[in-house]
Amino acid sequence: MLAWARSILDQSGVSYSPKEIDWMFIQASDRTALSLITESEKEISNEVADTFRGFVHRRSKGEPVQYILGNTEFYGLSIGINSSVLIPRPETEGLVDRALEYIGQNGRPRVLDIGTGSGCIAIALAVKEPGLPVTGVDVSPEALQVATQNSLAHGVHITWRTADYNEPESFEDLGGPFGLIVSNPPYVTAEEYEGLEPEIRLHEPRLALTPGEDQTGPYRQIAILARQLLEPGGLLLAEINEKLGSEIVRILKDYDFDPVEIESDMAGRDRYVLARKS
Ligand SMILES: C[S@@+](CC[C@H](N)C(=O)[O-])C[C@H]1O[C@@H](n2cnc3c(N)ncnc32)[C@H](O)[C@@H]1O
Repeated sequence: MLAWARSILDQSGVSYSPKEIDWMFIQASDRTALSLITESEKEISNEVADTFRGFVHRRSKGEPVQYILGNTEFYGLSIGINSSVLIPRPETEGLVDRALEYIGQNGRPRVLDIGTGSGCIAIALAVKEPGLPVTGVDVSPEALQVATQNSLAHGVHITWRTADYNEPESFEDLGGPFGLIVSNPPYVTAEEYEGLEPEIRLHEPRLALTPGEDQTGPYRQIAILARQLLEPGGLLLAEINEKLGSEIVRILKDYDFDPVEIESDMAGRDRYVLARKS
């Protein structure tokens, strides 16, 4: 069956890692990675074979393996996902590192995660800092369902709310002030979006990837909200498009954040903005 899967995927033209075949087989057969090596393939039932074939066919049409498996790893945690949410990216772990550093040095502030998606950032913070008061918001009710399932699975309490950063009044009942606002808003430009690989463009939610023509719009809106919701001296920490750093710094300075700093990801690209409410 594994050889059959390799030939289907090779013929499909989809770029895949051989490990993905193992992951799909393990998921379909409910086995462990070790039993994949030690047990014979002959022992699988027709039901398992059908499930595995279904997974391979989906993968051969370009669907990301994480959606097929229904989960991915983020910050060492298994995060459930479906096509309503972005697949968490490794560079977002850098945002969590910076948030945890700030939380450790600033007396465990109340935290707000804007555009929470699968809830990966909020959940990583709540798992690493047990009892930390964390609120996660998203405009997508479907995303919040995924986030809720994930917080239940990890046994952490997070306040989940539907809110749209383009409608500041939707943040009114969140309470506050917050000591830290984190956000990974959609930041792919409209032009970049058209050039994305089909695997991303056809399968991940457009809403999670791009704000459309107004490429810095989300940062302006989040700056307005952060001025209202952050306590004095509080921090806004956001992931950014590497090409938009200086524009985003200017916007945040216009809203009186000071200092405003850009930091790089592991690949050396401008990826995080840290802005203090003065
Ligand atoms: C880049 S994804 C980030 C998801 C998750 N925080 C992560 O890091 O993997 C951006 C998220 O912002 C949400 N979003 C898009 N427009 C929004 C809006 N106007 N108000 C609130 N959330 C929004 C999307 O639904 C999506 O979940």
